[in-house]
Amino acid sequence: MTNHRPGSDFAPRAGYLWRARRLSLAAVLTSDLFRVLQLKMTEPVPSARLPCARLDEIQARMAAAARAAGRDPAEVRLVAVSKQQPWESIEPILVAGQTTFGENRVQEAMERWGGRREGLTLHLIGPLQTNKAAEAAAFFDVIETLDRPKLARVLATEIQKAGCAPRLYVQINTGEEPQKAGVVPAEADGFIAECLGLGLQIEGLMCIPPVDEEPAMHFALLAKIAARNGLSKLSMGMSDDFETAIRFGATSVRVGSALFGARLAKA
Ligand SMILES: Cc1ncc(COP(=O)(O)O)c(C=O)c1O
Repeated sequence: MTNHRPGSDFAPRAGYLWRARRLSLAAVLTSDLFRVLQLKMTEPVPSARLPCARLDEIQARMAAAARAAGRDPAEVRLVAVSKQQPWESIEPILVAGQTTFGENRVQEAMERWGGRREGLTLHLIGPLQTNKAAEAAAFFDVIETLDRPKLARVLATEIQKAGCAPRLYVQINTGEEPQKAGVVPAEADGFIAECLGLGLQIEGLMCIPPVDEEPAMHFALLAKIAARNGLSKLSMGMSDDFETAIRFGATSVRVGSALFGARLAKA
Protein backbone atom coordinates (compact mmCIF):
# COMPACT_ATOMS: atom_id res chain seq x y z
CA MET A 1 0.00 0.00 0.00
CA THR A 2 1.42 3.29 -1.07
CA ASN A 3 0.27 6.70 0.06
CA HIS A 4 0.22 8.42 -3.32
CA ARG A 5 -2.75 9.12 -5.46
CA PRO A 6 -3.42 6.53 -8.20
CA GLY A 7 -2.35 7.72 -11.64
CA SER A 8 0.08 10.22 -10.23
CA ASP A 9 3.83 9.66 -9.99
CA PHE A 10 4.32 13.21 -8.72
CA ALA A 11 3.51 12.53 -5.08
CA PRO A 12 6.31 10.02 -4.32
CA ARG A 13 8.81 12.15 -6.22
CA ALA A 14 7.71 15.18 -4.23
CA GLY A 15 8.22 13.07 -1.09
CA TYR A 16 11.73 12.17 -2.17
CA LEU A 17 12.41 15.78 -3.08
CA TRP A 18 11.19 16.97 0.30
CA ARG A 19 13.33 14.40 2.10
CA ALA A 20 16.34 15.27 -0.07
CA ARG A 21 15.80 18.96 0.65
CA ARG A 22 15.58 18.29 4.36
CA LEU A 23 18.79 16.27 4.17
CA SER A 24 20.66 18.95 2.25
CA LEU A 25 19.35 21.63 4.63
CA ALA A 26 20.64 19.55 7.52
CA ALA A 27 23.99 19.21 5.75
CA VAL A 28 24.21 22.96 5.21
CA LEU A 29 23.29 23.66 8.82
CA THR A 30 25.85 21.11 10.04
CA SER A 31 28.59 22.58 7.87
CA ASP A 32 27.65 26.09 9.03
CA LEU A 33 27.76 24.90 12.61
CA PHE A 34 31.13 23.29 11.93
CA ARG A 35 32.42 26.53 10.42
CA VAL A 36 31.21 28.54 13.41
CA LEU A 37 32.87 26.05 15.77
CA GLN A 38 36.05 26.23 13.69
CA LEU A 39 36.02 30.02 13.90
CA LYS A 40 35.33 29.82 17.60
CA MET A 41 38.44 27.68 17.97
CA THR A 42 40.48 30.37 16.23
CA GLU A 43 39.46 33.38 18.27
CA PRO A 44 39.28 36.29 17.84
CA VAL A 45 36.67 35.89 15.10
CA PRO A 46 37.14 39.20 13.20
CA SER A 47 40.88 38.77 12.64
CA ALA A 48 40.36 35.09 11.82
CA ARG A 49 38.21 35.93 8.80
CA LEU A 50 40.47 38.59 7.41
CA PRO A 51 43.62 36.50 6.77
CA CYS A 52 41.56 33.81 5.01
CA ALA A 53 40.26 36.40 2.59
CA ARG A 54 43.84 37.54 2.03
CA LEU A 55 44.92 33.95 1.34
CA ASP A 56 42.14 33.53 -1.24
CA GLU A 57 43.05 36.81 -2.86
CA ILE A 58 46.77 36.04 -3.10
CA GLN A 59 46.11 32.58 -4.51
CA ALA A 60 43.76 34.12 -7.08
CA ARG A 61 46.38 36.73 -8.03
CA MET A 62 49.05 34.04 -8.32
CA ALA A 63 46.84 31.93 -10.56
CA ALA A 64 45.96 34.95 -12.74
CA ALA A 65 49.65 35.90 -13.06
CA ALA A 66 50.56 32.32 -14.03
CA ARG A 67 47.80 32.13 -16.63
CA ALA A 68 48.75 35.55 -18.04
CA ALA A 69 52.29 34.20 -18.49
CA GLY A 70 50.97 31.08 -20.24
CA ARG A 71 51.90 28.92 -17.25
CA ASP A 72 49.98 26.33 -15.28
CA PRO A 73 49.03 27.89 -11.88
CA ALA A 74 49.83 24.53 -10.25
CA GLU A 75 53.52 25.14 -11.10
CA VAL A 76 53.77 27.97 -8.56
CA ARG A 77 53.76 27.33 -4.83
CA LEU A 78 52.92 29.86 -2.14
CA VAL A 79 55.38 29.95 0.75
CA ALA A 80 53.58 31.82 3.53
CA VAL A 81 56.28 33.76 5.35
CA SER A 82 55.27 33.37 8.97
CA LYS A 83 58.48 34.82 10.40
CA GLN A 84 57.83 37.29 13.21
CA GLN A 85 54.08 36.83 12.94
CA PRO A 86 51.85 36.26 15.95
CA TRP A 87 50.13 32.88 16.16
CA GLU A 88 46.69 34.57 15.91
CA SER A 89 47.61 35.62 12.37
CA ILE A 90 49.08 32.27 11.37
CA GLU A 91 46.40 29.93 12.70
CA PRO A 92 43.55 31.01 10.40
CA ILE A 93 45.82 30.58 7.39
CA LEU A 94 46.71 27.11 8.60
CA VAL A 95 43.03 26.27 9.19
CA ALA A 96 42.24 27.53 5.68
CA GLY A 97 44.54 24.85 4.28
CA GLN A 98 47.91 26.53 3.75
CA THR A 99 50.62 23.95 4.45
CA THR A 100 53.86 25.61 3.27
CA PHE A 101 55.50 28.17 5.52
CA GLY A 102 58.75 30.13 5.47
CA GLU A 103 60.73 30.94 8.58
CA ASN A 104 63.78 33.08 9.12
CA ARG A 105 65.33 31.55 12.20
CA VAL A 106 65.95 27.93 13.09
CA GLN A 107 65.15 28.35 16.78
CA GLU A 108 61.97 30.36 16.25
CA ALA A 109 60.75 27.85 13.67
CA MET A 110 61.40 24.87 15.91
CA GLU A 111 59.58 26.48 18.83
CA ARG A 112 56.61 27.42 16.69
CA TRP A 113 56.23 24.37 14.49
CA GLY A 114 58.01 21.61 16.43
CA GLY A 115 54.84 20.27 18.04
CA ARG A 116 52.69 20.46 14.92
CA ARG A 117 55.12 19.53 12.16
CA GLU A 118 52.92 16.82 10.59
CA GLY A 119 51.67 17.57 7.07
CA LEU A 120 53.59 20.83 6.73
CA THR A 121 56.39 21.88 4.41
CA LEU A 122 58.78 24.27 6.09
CA HIS A 123 61.29 26.47 4.28
CA LEU A 124 64.23 28.19 5.92
CA ILE A 125 64.51 31.56 4.19
CA GLY A 126 66.83 33.39 6.61
CA PRO A 127 70.61 33.27 6.96
CA LEU A 128 71.95 29.99 8.33
CA GLN A 129 74.90 29.85 10.70
CA THR A 130 77.10 26.80 10.44
CA ASN A 131 76.54 25.93 14.12
CA LYS A 132 72.80 25.59 13.35
CA ALA A 133 73.28 23.61 10.13
CA ALA A 134 72.65 20.18 11.68
CA GLU A 135 69.40 21.27 13.34
CA ALA A 136 68.24 23.08 10.20
CA ALA A 137 69.00 20.10 7.96
CA ALA A 138 67.02 17.79 10.23
CA PHE A 139 64.07 20.15 10.75
CA PHE A 140 63.41 21.95 7.46
CA ASP A 141 62.13 20.44 4.23
CA VAL A 142 63.78 23.18 2.20
CA ILE A 143 66.80 25.36 2.97
CA GLU A 144 66.77 28.33 0.62
CA THR A 145 69.81 30.14 1.95
CA LEU A 146 72.85 28.10 1.00
CA ASP A 147 75.21 30.98 0.34
CA ARG A 148 78.87 30.14 1.05
CA PRO A 149 81.41 27.33 0.74
CA LYS A 150 81.83 26.77 4.49
CA LEU A 151 78.09 26.28 4.95
CA ALA A 152 78.03 23.92 1.96
CA ARG A 153 80.78 21.77 3.51
CA VAL A 154 79.11 21.65 6.94
CA LEU A 155 75.69 20.88 5.44
CA ALA A 156 77.18 18.09 3.32
CA THR A 157 78.71 16.51 6.42
CA GLU A 158 75.58 16.91 8.57
CA ILE A 159 73.22 15.67 5.88
CA GLN A 160 75.31 12.55 5.41
CA LYS A 161 75.60 11.98 9.15
CA ALA A 162 71.86 12.37 9.80
CA GLY A 163 70.70 10.69 6.60
CA CYS A 164 68.22 13.51 6.00
CA ALA A 165 67.56 15.12 2.64
CA PRO A 166 66.47 18.75 2.81
CA ARG A 167 65.94 20.30 -0.61
CA LEU A 168 68.52 23.02 -1.15
CA TYR A 169 68.45 26.37 -2.92
CA VAL A 170 71.48 28.55 -3.49
CA GLN A 171 70.85 32.17 -2.58
CA ILE A 172 72.12 34.56 -5.23
CA ASN A 173 72.85 38.17 -4.34
CA THR A 174 71.66 39.43 -7.72
CA GLY A 175 72.06 43.08 -6.70
CA GLU A 176 75.58 42.47 -5.33
CA GLU A 177 74.59 44.33 -2.17
CA PRO A 178 77.34 44.19 0.44
CA GLN A 179 74.90 43.95 3.37
CA LYS A 180 72.99 41.06 1.82
CA ALA A 181 73.77 37.36 1.93
CA GLY A 182 74.14 35.31 -1.22
CA VAL A 183 76.64 34.39 -3.88
CA VAL A 184 77.32 37.12 -6.44
CA PRO A 185 76.21 36.20 -9.98
CA ALA A 186 79.77 35.90 -11.31
CA GLU A 187 80.56 33.22 -8.74
CA ALA A 188 77.25 31.36 -8.97
CA ASP A 189 78.25 28.68 -11.50
CA GLY A 190 81.44 27.84 -9.61
CA PHE A 191 79.65 27.66 -6.27
CA ILE A 192 76.86 25.47 -7.62
CA ALA A 193 79.47 23.10 -9.11
CA GLU A 194 81.28 23.04 -5.76
CA CYS A 195 78.03 22.11 -3.96
CA LEU A 196 77.29 19.33 -6.44
CA GLY A 197 80.85 18.09 -5.97
CA LEU A 198 80.16 17.80 -2.24
CA GLY A 199 77.19 15.58 -3.02
CA LEU A 200 74.57 18.23 -2.22
CA GLN A 201 71.35 18.02 -4.21
CA ILE A 202 70.74 21.57 -5.37
CA GLU A 203 67.14 22.03 -6.43
CA GLY A 204 67.03 25.70 -7.30
CA LEU A 205 67.98 29.32 -6.70
CA MET A 206 66.60 32.06 -4.50
CA CYS A 207 67.04 35.84 -4.56
CA ILE A 208 65.92 38.97 -2.74
CA PRO A 209 66.24 41.92 -5.15
CA PRO A 210 67.37 45.33 -3.87
CA VAL A 211 64.39 47.29 -2.53
CA ASP A 212 65.01 50.32 -4.71
CA GLU A 213 65.49 48.57 -8.05
CA GLU A 214 63.14 47.15 -10.64
CA PRO A 215 62.82 43.51 -9.52
CA ALA A 216 62.15 42.16 -13.02
CA MET A 217 65.80 42.34 -14.09
CA HIS A 218 66.85 40.47 -10.94
CA PHE A 219 64.26 37.78 -11.56
CA ALA A 220 65.41 37.47 -15.17
CA LEU A 221 69.03 37.15 -14.03
CA LEU A 222 68.14 34.45 -11.50
CA ALA A 223 66.21 32.52 -14.15
CA LYS A 224 69.20 32.76 -16.51
CA ILE A 225 71.67 31.45 -13.91
CA ALA A 226 69.30 28.58 -13.05
CA ALA A 227 68.78 27.64 -16.70
CA ARG A 228 72.49 27.48 -17.51
CA ASN A 229 73.08 25.29 -14.45
CA GLY A 230 70.16 22.98 -15.22
CA LEU A 231 68.20 23.97 -12.10
CA SER A 232 64.42 23.93 -12.35
CA LYS A 233 63.23 25.77 -9.23
CA LEU A 234 63.17 29.52 -8.66
CA SER A 235 62.21 31.04 -5.31
CA MET A 236 61.57 34.69 -6.06
CA GLY A 237 58.90 37.30 -5.48
CA MET A 238 57.52 38.73 -2.25
CA SER A 239 54.39 40.72 -1.32
CA ASP A 240 55.08 43.63 -3.66
CA ASP A 241 56.36 41.79 -6.69
CA PHE A 242 55.22 38.16 -6.72
CA GLU A 243 53.20 38.60 -9.90
CA THR A 244 56.28 39.92 -11.74
CA ALA A 245 58.30 37.00 -10.36
CA ILE A 246 55.72 34.52 -11.69
CA ARG A 247 55.98 36.19 -15.09
CA PHE A 248 59.73 35.52 -14.99
CA GLY A 249 59.36 31.88 -14.01
CA ALA A 250 59.09 31.74 -10.20
CA THR A 251 58.15 28.25 -9.02
CA SER A 252 57.62 29.53 -5.49
CA VAL A 253 56.84 32.96 -4.12
CA ARG A 254 57.50 33.99 -0.52
CA VAL A 255 54.68 36.19 0.72
CA GLY A 256 54.57 37.60 4.24
CA SER A 257 53.02 40.98 4.97
CA ALA A 258 50.40 40.83 2.19
CA LEU A 259 49.12 37.64 3.77
CA PHE A 260 49.52 38.17 7.50
CA GLY A 261 49.81 41.94 7.91
CA ALA A 262 52.80 43.79 9.33
CA ARG A 263 55.43 41.70 11.13
CA LEU A 264 56.08 42.07 14.85
CA ALA A 265 59.18 44.03 15.74
CA LYS A 266 62.33 41.87 16.04
CA ALA A 267 62.87 40.40 19.50
C1 LIG B 1 63.78 36.09 2.49
C2 LIG B 1 62.41 36.68 2.62
N1 LIG B 1 61.49 36.37 1.72
C3 LIG B 1 60.23 36.87 1.80
C4 LIG B 1 59.86 37.73 2.81
C5 LIG B 1 58.45 38.26 2.86
O1 LIG B 1 58.43 39.59 2.51
P1 LIG B 1 57.02 40.36 2.38
O2 LIG B 1 56.53 40.57 3.76
O3 LIG B 1 57.36 41.60 1.67
O4 LIG B 1 56.13 39.49 1.59
C6 LIG B 1 60.80 38.08 3.77
C7 LIG B 1 60.45 39.00 4.85
O5 LIG B 1 61.23 39.59 5.53
C8 LIG B 1 62.12 37.54 3.67
O6 LIG B 1 63.07 37.84 4.57
